[in-house]
Amino acid sequence: MANAIDSSPVKGVRDFYPDDMRVRNWLFEHWRAIAKQFGYEEYDSCVLESEELYVRKAGDEIVGQLYNFEDKGNRKVALRPEMTPSLARMILAKGNSLSLPLRWFSIPQCFRYERMQKGRKREHFQWNMDCIGLDSVAAEVELMNAQVSFLRAVGFAAEDIAIKVSDRRVLQDYLETLSITGEDFAAVCVVIDKRDKIGDEKCKEMLSEKGVDAETADKIIAIMNVRGLDTLAEIAGEENNGYQSLKQLHELASASGIADAIQIDCSVVRGLSYYTGTVWELFDNAGVVPRAIAGGGRYDRLMETFGGQPMPMVGFGFGDVVISLLLEERGLIPDFDNRVDDYIYPMSESGFVTANKIAAKLRAEGQKVLIDYSCRRFKHVIKAAENAGAKRMFTLGEKEIESGVVKVRTIGAERIENEHNISEFV
Ligand code: HAM
Repeated sequence: MANAIDSSPVKGVRDFYPDDMRVRNWLFEHWRAIAKQFGYEEYDSCVLESEELYVRKAGDEIVGQLYNFEDKGNRKVALRPEMTPSLARMILAKGNSLSLPLRWFSIPQCFRYERMQKGRKREHFQWNMDCIGLDSVAAEVELMNAQVSFLRAVGFAAEDIAIKVSDRRVLQDYLETLSITGEDFAAVCVVIDKRDKIGDEKCKEMLSEKGVDAETADKIIAIMNVRGLDTLAEIAGEENNGYQSLKQLHELASASGIADAIQIDCSVVRGLSYYTGTVWELFDNAGVVPRAIAGGGRYDRLMETFGGQPMPMVGFGFGDVVISLLLEERGLIPDFDNRVDDYIYPMSESGFVTANKIAAKLRAEGQKVLIDYSCRRFKHVIKAAENAGAKRMFTLGEKEIESGVVKVRTIGAERIENEHNISEFV
């Protein structure tokens, strides 16, 4: 006998059995429905991309987590760790032919060689919504609105949702006065994004490796501790670009009914170096998973770094792993027991032909129909029909077929059985 293969999936990735697939499809249907409600169109690209799309100097963690290899034609390729670079590449490829603004969404599977923790896997699906070509915080508020609409649609209470928002220009304006700009600024953001995990001291150490002196590091941390617009105005000054933009964002959020969820929180920086303005993360106040449910931001320079024209772009990524844990924890995933409508039970092989004729007619009428070819005893078949969620069971015994009848029984609380002429169903 051959050696048994290892039946587990590759470490960190998931199999989706039918029970899991029902949940996944349900989640994706909600994501699609919300995106469409906001006028976003679906797009996709291949999971395999050129590695050069992810080459970044700023030290983004994501670059070190690439699943990359050389293909047989010596091309350096990678499984996409996120969708944003693919989106920018697709926009770049179209040149000036697209009419702006674009509102696009996608649900790509992404791969990152991560250290596995609760809510973190090496593969995940990520709902992305991006607005391309709109240089106004109205786009940010629209996207936040879509996120909140989704959470409400699946049963979250309004008070459970927190959107922590900041703007990279809060720090950028300050660091510019100290000549920390461009790639150096992006690298500083990547380091301070780790602050929660590594603590202030380690953060300062890493900043000093990037050439940031101790006094500046203290000031960066002081700014990151700011909560609320008023304190921000005091610390950064009312003329700060980040403050101005956040103030406007807050006003618009109030008008669209999501202001209660918004928290101005300067500790949000995000670990991707391409963000240039607003950055935000979504949290569940009541959940047991302390990780962000979703994250997004404005990245107005990414197209330029790909050799294109400047293009305002903003969007978010919303993974399936954390939200699935939260939905399960709250009992918000519905029972999916409606696999079929009708269940046809030919009691012996001689009934297979009639069973198929009935099934064909019912399916043509739009019913979901399963034929049970097991020829098992009735009590097993009725159980199987119940498990399949059937509402009716058609029993075809030899004698009945000979006399042109079929027994139709309703399944559920009330069980009624009637004899019908087979001719009614073929
Ligand atoms: P990100 O923060 O790296 O942003 O990922 C967005 C979301 O994807 C996270 O909040 C989380 O829900 C999920 N996620 C990321 N990595 C994992 C993982 N290893 N396991 C499970 N879930 C994960 C981005 O990827 C940006 N490209 C989002 C974006 C779109 N920004 C603008 N447009």
